[in-house]
Amino acid sequence: LKPTDPIVQELLRRAKTVVERAYCPYSGFAVGAAVLAASEATGEREIFAGCNVENASYSLTICAERSAVAQAISAGHRTLLAVVVYTPTATPTAPCGACRQVLFEFGADALVFSFGATGRYSRRVVSDLLPSSFGPSDLG
Ligand code: THU
Repeated sequence: LKPTDPIVQELLRRAKTVVERAYCPYSGFAVGAAVLAASEATGEREIFAGCNVENASYSLTICAERSAVAQAISAGHRTLLAVVVYTPTATPTAPCGACRQVLFEFGADALVFSFGATGRYSRRVVSDLLPSSFGPSDLG
């Protein structure tokens, strides 16, 4: 997958829409994420989007990535194929450590594109973002 591929552009469009709904009064740092999920039964693909949701009790903040993953899982999906993270900043934003762990659970092979507002991007595989990982297979 390349950043110019239609599916990545659609994920980016969804991430740019949802970033407008970010609840980030404390940091002022808005993040939008969109995940491409695949149905295990039919292989059908569906996109889910999420924004960061902050809280007056700061540490309860939910990142955009985990917000999007929760939507996909709640809709019945268990497999993630690709993720787009969008921030209206010059520098693209990589998923935080906690989000890497959550993405790994459902998409170790998923591609993560991070886009900044000026088109700068990074492209990484989840398992590369989380080396020496602990995941479902480690529980035997
Ligand atoms: N944030 C995300 O939503 N995703 C990331 O990948 C990095 C950080 C949010 C959490 C918090 O609301 C704000 O960005 C500043 O850390």
